[in-house]
Amino acid sequence: MERRSEQMNITTFMLPAGYHKDSWRLPGSRAEELGYLDFVLELTLMAEAAKLDAVFFGDIVTADTILRNDVKMNGLYEPVTVLAALAARTTKIGLIGTISTTFSEPYNTARQILGIDHMSGGRAGWNIVTSSRGNSNFGLEEMPDPADRYRRATEYLDVVTKLWDSWDADAVVTDRESGVWADTEKLHRIDHRGEFFTVQGPLNMRPSLQGRPILVQAGSSGPGIDLGSSFADCIYTAQPDKRLAQEYYANYKRIVTEKGRNPAQVKILPGLVPIMGDTVAEAQELADHLAAQVNMEFGVRQLEASHRIDLTGVDLDDRVPVERFPAKLATSRSEIFRRRAFDDGLTLRELIIEDARGTGHGFFIGTPGQAAEYMIDWFDDRACDGFNVNAPFMPGGMQMMCERLIPELQERGYFREDYSGDTLRDHLGLDDPAPVIARS
Ligand SMILES: Cc1cc2nc3c(=O)[nH]c(=O)nc-3n(C[C@H](O)[C@H](O)[C@H](O)COP(=O)(O)O)c2cc1C
Repeated sequence: MERRSEQMNITTFMLPAGYHKDSWRLPGSRAEELGYLDFVLELTLMAEAAKLDAVFFGDIVTADTILRNDVKMNGLYEPVTVLAALAARTTKIGLIGTISTTFSEPYNTARQILGIDHMSGGRAGWNIVTSSRGNSNFGLEEMPDPADRYRRATEYLDVVTKLWDSWDADAVVTDRESGVWADTEKLHRIDHRGEFFTVQGPLNMRPSLQGRPILVQAGSSGPGIDLGSSFADCIYTAQPDKRLAQEYYANYKRIVTEKGRNPAQVKILPGLVPIMGDTVAEAQELADHLAAQVNMEFGVRQLEASHRIDLTGVDLDDRVPVERFPAKLATSRSEIFRRRAFDDGLTLRELIIEDARGTGHGFFIGTPGQAAEYMIDWFDDRACDGFNVNAPFMPGGMQMMCERLIPELQERGYFREDYSGDTLRDHLGLDDPAPVIARS
């Protein structure tokens, strides 16, 4: 295995309740403050001090998860507003937020993400999702089927990127003498007419300091990969198994190349939940302690909902009978769930704990040094270009990641000691997509 010349890209999934389900029950969790600024700001400043590429906020537009007592998944932050607040209190770290293409309009989204970009000096990213639920809050009887959602998302991305490019980089002239602030010849209508949207343009905002905000995508299905490989700069993915991650990586880079894009310019970042201690025994003790927080009754209901499966009457210490799985699995994560249940023979209790730890993502139990070696092995072996690290509990898990794990990677030369640029595009090592205006 050859050492790669570049360094890892690392973002963190910002879930202030802690990524491990029910870890907010621990006495030091500050769960009283979920949804407010100060706590999430402190966590973000920790990530910035560790020189991470970005903090990432997921989003769903329904209270379904909180109604099942799944506090973590709800997030409790609306991405655009929290990122705008964080933009004002941070200077370097990238700010990635989720907006669903199914429940919004491209002109609004183009402005919101570009607004965060401007407020932060070129540090915004948009995580594009098509949402698997939320219809009842938007006047829809049912969710549109995935193919329709992705068709809409593809046209949506086309519109948003055209709007972001609707001002030439040098359109703002600020000519006091003539009274011309923007050279209107350099603002272009997009005149988009499509299946879902009719948008004249141009955008009513000056262009991005990083050329364009960063696009992030996490689809794993055929249409999801098609969208991501066409537009995205970063790909999030749930990959608990190294060999499968390598296959996914090779396949994704091949598709990107076939589309005429440079595969090195599309960063693949699987999730990872590091559960760490000074010794392996301490890390295992922490993992057991976190597992002991999990409410099994809620866990059953959450698994039923995530995988659309009926678990009534299944004993926690039994395996899930094969006939309980629907012929057509609910999501790509359900595939992993089924594999763990059948190929690996986990009991329902073990499945609930595994779901609580990783929710489909890989997790690691060991010392910070071992976690760093594990990450390096995946990186050098081309299973990824870095990671989206999910702190298992807050604030301690974030602190451990930033103050113990990252230094182990830095010592080995696999992660930056300081930021070398000001924009998220700089941190990710991505080329400018179009001529950019002077960064002074
Ligand atoms: C790290 C990660 C973060 C995600 N964040 C969100 C999110 O915030 N909101 C959401 O609706 N879906 C989110 N998803 C789900 C994806 O958008 C996507 O629906 C899922 O990976 C299944 O892929 P598919 O839509 O191609 O079937 C996330 C997935 C991953 C791996």
